[in-house]
Amino acid sequence: MRTEDARPVRLEDYRPPDWLVETVELEVSLHPTATRVRATLMLKPNGAAAAPLILDGEELTLTGLTLDGAALPPEQYVATTERLTIAQPPPRPFRLTIETTVDPSANTELSGLYRSGAIYCTQCEAEGFRRITYFPDRPDVMAVYTTRIEAEKAEAPVLLANGNRIAAGEIAGSGRHFAVWHDPFPKPSYLFALVGGPLACVEDRFRTMSGREVELRIYVEPGKEDRCAHAMDSLKRAMRWDETAFGREYDLDVFMIVAVSDFNMGAMENKGLNIFNDKYVLASPATATDGDFERIEAIIAHEYFHNWTGNRITCRDWFQLCLKEGLTVFRDQEFSADMRSRAVERISDVRGLRAHQFVEDAGPLAHPVRPTLYREINNFYTATVYEKGAEVVRMLATLIGPESFRKGMDLYFVRHDGEAATVEQFVQCFADVSGKDLGQFMRWYSQAGTPEVVATGGYDARGRTYRLELAQTVPATPGQPLKEPMAIPLALGLVGRDGRDLPLKLADGRAIERGVLTLTKAAETFVFGDIGEPPVPSLNRGFSAPIKLVANVSADELRFLTAHDRDPFNRWQALQTLATRLLLDNVAALRAGGAPREGGDLAAALGAIVADGALEPAYVALMLALPGEADLAREIGRDVDPDAIFAARAALRASLGDKLAGPLFDHYRRLSESGPYSPDAISAGRRALRNACLDLLAATRRGDAIALAARQYQAADNMTDRMAALATLSLHDVPERAAALHDFYARHADDPLIVDKWLTLQAAIPEPATLDRVKALTAHPAFSFANPNRVRALINAFAFANQKEFNRADGAGYEFIADTVLKLDPRNPQLAARLLSALKSWRVLEAGRRALAQAALRRVAGEPSLSRDSSDIVQRALAEE
Ligand code: BES
Ligand code: ZN
Repeated sequence: MRTEDARPVRLEDYRPPDWLVETVELEVSLHPTATRVRATLMLKPNGAAAAPLILDGEELTLTGLTLDGAALPPEQYVATTERLTIAQPPPRPFRLTIETTVDPSANTELSGLYRSGAIYCTQCEAEGFRRITYFPDRPDVMAVYTTRIEAEKAEAPVLLANGNRIAAGEIAGSGRHFAVWHDPFPKPSYLFALVGGPLACVEDRFRTMSGREVELRIYVEPGKEDRCAHAMDSLKRAMRWDETAFGREYDLDVFMIVAVSDFNMGAMENKGLNIFNDKYVLASPATATDGDFERIEAIIAHEYFHNWTGNRITCRDWFQLCLKEGLTVFRDQEFSADMRSRAVERISDVRGLRAHQFVEDAGPLAHPVRPTLYREINNFYTATVYEKGAEVVRMLATLIGPESFRKGMDLYFVRHDGEAATVEQFVQCFADVSGKDLGQFMRWYSQAGTPEVVATGGYDARGRTYRLELAQTVPATPGQPLKEPMAIPLALGLVGRDGRDLPLKLADGRAIERGVLTLTKAAETFVFGDIGEPPVPSLNRGFSAPIKLVANVSADELRFLTAHDRDPFNRWQALQTLATRLLLDNVAALRAGGAPREGGDLAAALGAIVADGALEPAYVALMLALPGEADLAREIGRDVDPDAIFAARAALRASLGDKLAGPLFDHYRRLSESGPYSPDAISAGRRALRNACLDLLAATRRGDAIALAARQYQAADNMTDRMAALATLSLHDVPERAAALHDFYARHADDPLIVDKWLTLQAAIPEPATLDRVKALTAHPAFSFANPNRVRALINAFAFANQKEFNRADGAGYEFIADTVLKLDPRNPQLAARLLSALKSWRVLEAGRRALAQAALRRVAGEPSLSRDSSDIVQRALAEE
């Protein structure tokens, strides 16, 4: 394991590589504990001066080194486990052959070459390739790879690597065999992959828009073939969509996906050989929920889309990570919007953005979409790089319009294909096609923090004008005390009495393109002319900018928008704002020893939504979900008391369930299933609404609602309805809960991905007994600290999805997470560091909890052999502002 060293890496220090690698020939002889790797690199100097050759390594043992075929004398190089240096290499192209030995079975970090059960697999992003061989392990060194894999045939009957298979055969009399793969596209080392093992394969084909036939293969553990259909279908739809939406065609003869059960992340876009966490491949109606089907579709698409945004055009350095990740998240979100409901997708994406990115942006780990400094790059695969990164791309499209956006993307693909590019080069493409100056826009990449926009509106009946005063501020974030104004695209409408939008014209004659104002100054006033009645402003429609909007809109106006706004996002937002205002009042009242308000107005507004037959069920289901505990904590922002938040929310849910019981029961019955399960968006939406009705009814703890949930649990013929009923029951301390949890485990004990759902539900129970239950479950035979999915299902679920019990007033939740981080850190630092980030919001807590959370962080910080991953997180979390 790497322990902390002094290596802040800075964007400003970027220098082009001294040496380029034209081709890599890898020969890998698989063995459980001593895999031999021979790498032959064709190196050439990049530019004139002959610089030393310094290759990265990590935990490597060098067993051989030749230069142009001759053994290199020991005095001409220095090899440590972390580096191979040739101080005076020949000042011309040469061939270097490096032999190393690695132990995949001892690789518990799951980075580099490791084993997942019987399977050999690799994970090289961001810096895992250096754990396989010495190499300039940086994304701007792009080479053509040929990979020969050799293994015991019995142990690894299937041998895969990037590209097309060009040879294969037996090694006579040895029980061993080999396969040779060639990838003609130059790529950085982080996209290298190889796989070996006993794998079953599901096959299909795809004909690209230019008529080329591509073989599609999904490799899974034997016996799981019947759970690949949805992933395969998603892949084909993603391939078609990239052709129509972006003109991008697949470029190799074969596209492979391998599902493994031990994986640090969700999935990885290795060229032609995506490797997936099996959780994001395997699905059948009996084993996966609608949510699982939806995520699988999105992740399959995301990794496939990287083939162009990430692989054909990669990142110059890791500071440019958003260039591939933000852009590809934007693309997968657009894909999902086209496959499903655009409104529902947008609301879900914004909920995710606020829940993760806004929280990150408001705390000690805040950083710009393009950071300028890191100590551990693995800690920068963040909500900011991914989700805010996607919002920045969306804003570009909003600012220049869809046609120019498409032209800009086309230009980007033409101009930078085969290159390792930068954010500047990307944005320049959009400036070039639109003729717009995007200089100020670049601040979205460089300034951290969520901008706050205060909007004040006023109607002037005599002048028939509406004045909109906008003022923006960007809060201070670590290392960035002062900020400049942002260019904020604000989509808006002025809604008239009849619910229709009034025509938008600025009084000074300036045009408003596509309903979007751009705020560029710290404060700016826009006056709209020809406004014949007092309008209700609907601002930041579709969440056109990732900002916190504070507007002087009355409760009556919000109810009006909830009923009439033609922008579905803002209709939902108006109801959220109403609910948030009520809940924040109630939290304050509860903390002051008072009683919460009942919220009759909210129930009426919600009742009207539920009764509106024109709305999509999935959309109504989102309307029924009140702001979460974390949403409220974020709004409160300081001196947060998670118990009061929980109590206020539970009380409001009970009161709404009670007031709307009639229509909720009606809906529940009306939406009941007929016919076999189908995971399509419409059917899933109906189930989502039905289960949301059930959950709100059960919040009242009425006996009939609990009984209904218990009955649904027993009668369900698909995992979605069974899990939904179980989740509802799990929130209430009723005898039906224990029975159903017991039954669920008995049914699914032999399926780890389903047992994960069982672990997660128990970790999320908002009761004081939960912490002990979670601790006990760590000793359950189904649990293992070695498997990231198990750890995330139980421990991360407790820390991230159970605000109340994680934030126990006695600090035992924080202590448990600190203990677990210290236990995980030596084995798998990436996993430990992610878990540790659960403590990042400690400063917003009320004083008692704040001190306890800080003490837990300090205890982690005091561990002398802490990994670089965890020590980076803990040091930033504790740093004085
Ligand atoms: N390139 C990443 C996977 C990755 C992340 C590798 C961090 C190494 C370090 C991949 O494209 C990705 O972003 N995966 C996401 C899912 C995606 C749908 C956002 C993941 O793994 O969570
Ligand atoms: Zn990605």
